[in-house]
Amino acid sequence: MQEELRRLVYYSVNAIEGSADDIDHMLRDILETSRRNNPKLNITGALMFNANCFVQVLEGPRAAVEQLLQRFHLDKRHKSLAVLAFSPIPERAFGEWSMAFVGARAADGRLEAFAAESGFDPTRMSGEATLDFLHKMVLAQDQELRQSC
Ligand SMILES: Cc1cc2nc3c(=O)[nH]c(=O)nc-3n(C[C@H](O)[C@H](O)[C@H](O)COP(=O)(O)O)c2cc1C
Repeated sequence: MQEELRRLVYYSVNAIEGSADDIDHMLRDILETSRRNNPKLNITGALMFNANCFVQVLEGPRAAVEQLLQRFHLDKRHKSLAVLAFSPIPERAFGEWSMAFVGARAADGRLEAFAAESGFDPTRMSGEATLDFLHKMVLAQDQELRQSC
């Protein structure tokens, strides 16, 4: 039997104090690790870093998602991790991405528009609104990339 597919949505607060370069280095490192590990775990998802907060969506077999969540709790690069959703899903929203990334620059303009609509405050956002926002951001970014090629 196929294992239950789950989606985790959480936010956390950056715990690395340092220059913009230090933050850049950390993000690169996290993405490199994610893109190396996630395909082996059959995990897909997206990560956003903005306003010193991480917002991440992970989709995959329940045991693999739980295993990663345990690692995240031990990772000292972020703190105050709060789970917004952890639910069974019929299909993936980020099936094409081992870990898509939406950075501050890409997010800024749209983030303001989203904020006007729903008040972007991860502490007050539902898992569903967060997923929807990240999904729109990743698709828009992907479209821009395709157009510039
Ligand atoms: C915000 C954030 C997101 C992360 N996302 C992932 C991820 O999607 N996949 C992953 O394997 N590790 C991720 N990590 C890193 C894990 O916490 C952990 O360091 C890593 O999985 C260890 O893998 P390694 O033993 O291969 O170095 C993330 C860390 C942070 C701070």
